[in-house]
Amino acid sequence: MDRQRDVAALRREYADHGLAESDLAADPMTMFGRWFDDARAAGLHEPNAMVLATVSPHGQPSSRMVLLKGASDEGLVFFTNVRSRKGEDLAAEPRCALLFPWHPLERQVRVEGPAAVLPPADVAAYFATRPRGSRLGAHASHQSRVVASRAELDAAYAQAEKAFPDEVPVPEEWGGYRVRPEVVEFWQGRPGRMHDRLVYRRSGDGWRTERLAP
Ligand SMILES: Cc1cc2nc3c(=O)[nH]c(=O)nc-3n(C[C@H](O)[C@H](O)[C@H](O)COP(=O)(O)O)c2cc1C
Repeated sequence: MDRQRDVAALRREYADHGLAESDLAADPMTMFGRWFDDARAAGLHEPNAMVLATVSPHGQPSSRMVLLKGASDEGLVFFTNVRSRKGEDLAAEPRCALLFPWHPLERQVRVEGPAAVLPPADVAAYFATRPRGSRLGAHASHQSRVVASRAELDAAYAQAEKAFPDEVPVPEEWGGYRVRPEVVEFWQGRPGRMHDRLVYRRSGDGWRTERLAP
């Protein structure tokens, strides 16, 4: 069975079985881990790619993809430029939303919660694992700022290459965030648009769950 049919078979299996209250783990991050494993096992391209939505101080929403680089009870981690558009948004309004669009499986996971800046030690540890090219690029790109031309960008990269022949330090603008989930929805496509939507909401020290109409 090739991968394409694998995914089709899985999608059908999930759609037939659906998502029942009895399928839910006690907490959303355990549940997320199960679905993430399914997405990986199905061979989805970059299952850790998620849409991050932020809102500006003027109330303008914006969204973009970022890569999930860590998931635990504390939350979901991604790395970026903290002075980028998203970084400026999060500095003013930490509440944000994440979406995992696993549509080949007819699944999506939606997360809402505040994003907290990661400690510098965590950022440095991750930065060190990145390929040299990405580390240099992080120095050359003042993410979201207007650049005059491609040539200007290329010159900035060449300059970074020269400035850091060996070690590449963490750029001052570079950092990461951990989104602490307050609301997590698991969406499973079902026939006839009668999809399953089960939502976890933080409640005291634990979680309560509810079902939403599709
Ligand atoms: C699949 C995919 C993964 C991406 N991952 C990241 C990421 O982890 N961090 C990041 O800063 N940008 C990432 N990007 C680029 C962002 O989507 C975006 O262009 C950039 O962060 C600037 O966004 P902003 O101007 O809204 O801040 C990714 C793009 C794609 C298509």
